[in-house]
Formats: sequence, C-alpha cells, structure tokens
Amino acid sequence: MAATDGQQFPPPKVLTYPASAPPLLVTQGAEGRLYKTTHLAPNRPCALKYRPPKPYRHPILDARLTKARISSEAKVLERCWREGVPVPAVYAMDPAAGWMMMEWIEGIPARVGINKLLGDRREEEEEEDAEAPLPETCETLLADLMRRIGAAIGALHKTGVVHGDLTTSNMMLRPRRRGYGNGSGADGDGDDAEVLKGDVVLIDFGLATQSMSDEDRAVDLYVLERAFASTHPRAERLFATVLEAYKETFKKASSVLVKLEDVRMRGRKRSMLG
Ligand SMILES: Nc1ncnc2c1ncn2[C@@H]1O[C@H](COP(=O)(O)OP(=O)(O)O)[C@@H](O)[C@H]1O
Ligand SMILES: [Mg+2]
Repeated sequence: MAATDGQQFPPPKVLTYPASAPPLLVTQGAEGRLYKTTHLAPNRPCALKYRPPKPYRHPILDARLTKARISSEAKVLERCWREGVPVPAVYAMDPAAGWMMMEWIEGIPARVGINKLLGDRREEEEEEDAEAPLPETCETLLADLMRRIGAAIGALHKTGVVHGDLTTSNMMLRPRRRGYGNGSGADGDGDDAEVLKGDVVLIDFGLATQSMSDEDRAVDLYVLERAFASTHPRAERLFATVLEAYKETFKKASSVLVKLEDVRMRGRKRSMLG
C-alpha cells in the first residue's frame, strides 16, 4: 500500500530492455510478412507476424478481417500450446494493428530438410532410376521423421484444432538441445541426417479452425498427403507412416482414416473431371 511499492517490486526484466537489433524481414507472402526480432530481450529472438493493410480492399472491411485473423491465429496457437501441442508460444499481439509476436523456432522447415537429404542422394546417383529404393539409413531417418509428423498432427487434432494448411513448409525441425551429447557441438547445418532428427514444431495457423469433425480432420490429412506427394515424390510411399503414427497418437483416428478414403475418392473424381 506504501507509495514505495514501485521500488520494492521492480518491473519485469522485459520492460527494462531497449529495443535492440533491427528487425530482419524473413519472408514476405501475399498475406503477411514475418520478421525476426529481439525486441523483447537481446537473447530472446521472436517471430513477428504482420499483416499489412491491403490497398485493394475496402479499408473498414480490411481492418476487420485483419483483426479477426490475427486474433484467431493467436487464439488457436494459445490453445495448442496450453495443451502441449508443439507450436510456438504467443508472446504478444495487437490484432487491430495487424501483428502478433511469438516464439522464434530455430531450425529449418521440414520441406528443406527432407529435400536436402533426398537431393544429395540424387547427385550421387544421377543416372539411377528415380524409383529405386532409398538407402536404408535414409529410409530409417525419413520414416522416423514421418512418425513424429503423424504424432504432432494427432496431438493437434486431439485438442480440437484442424490446421487448414498442412504442408512440410509449415512444420519446422527444431534442433534438439539435449540428448545428442556426442561432442560435435555446433547447432549449424553440418549434418543433413542430424537436421532430420529435430523436433517437429507446427507453424502457420492462419487458416486453422476449431473442429472435432472427422471430415475436417480427414481433409487436413488429405491436404498434407497431396502436398507431400508433389513436394517429395521420392518419399511419397513413406506417407503411410504418418498415418500410422497418427493412429497411434489419436484415439479417434480410425473414423478419420475411414473418412480419408472418401475424401481421396472425391479428389480423384474431381481431377478426372478436369
Ligand atoms: N515462429 C517462427 N519461428 C521461426 N520461423 C518462422 C516462425 N513462423 C514462421 N516462420 C518462418 O516464416 C515462414 C512464413 O511464416 P508462415 O506463418 O508460414 O506464414 P505464411 O502465411 O506467409 O505462409 C515460415 O515458412 C517459416 O520459415
Ligand atoms: Mg506458411
């Protein structure tokens, strides 16, 4: 109650840091931009997702849409994070201003990791049949990654969230800090195999919704299945492992996988029609 309370209880550290290194523009998509910043603390990199105003939209409608999307993305991330789904933590947001600040996830997108592994192999054996089986070490590494992807999606669906845009670009492989202990040290991009052993972290919840429906969940899986086949044709066969791990992680998976058959059928019909 004393007026000196302010001194007895210093502000949290975060309020004592000046904004440090200038922000780095990481990506610029059609809808938004992503910056890396240390605005919160010098040793805490953050990802700031910003949706700038769209000049081609009516300003009032645009402001309303932007606000709704930022707050919905943050809300879904928050829910996932609370329930232990591997996603970045939300640190701060200003939906009306079109931004959200979240945990920076170290590492690289799964797409890059997988293509590096498969790409390197292609160079070694350029003349060989593209359908040739992958070497066993490669196959084991990829299968193990597929299991972790399936488990992450299972955990996501368990919380009642569907992602809406599952691709290997929207999954990061975060290097594991503990447990390697082989003294090799550096976190860097030294070893493609090591990169693939990273923890799967789901990102980009801009299209995510809350849903418990088998249909929505099946479509989520189907989107990834299609994306996977076109991004990683050489590893397409391994997608079955994603579904296996999904089934082991998520109790209600069986009915989703039955639905997935329907969704695939519809997809085939649609592509036959043109
Ligand atoms: N929390 C994060 N930590 C590190 N990198 C991120 C993070 N969020 C996004 N990125 C990087 O920025 C890219 C674009 O972000 P994303 O959320 O996927 O937006 P978009 O809607 O433009 O696809 C991602 O593919 C990833 O490389
Ligand atoms: Mg994305």
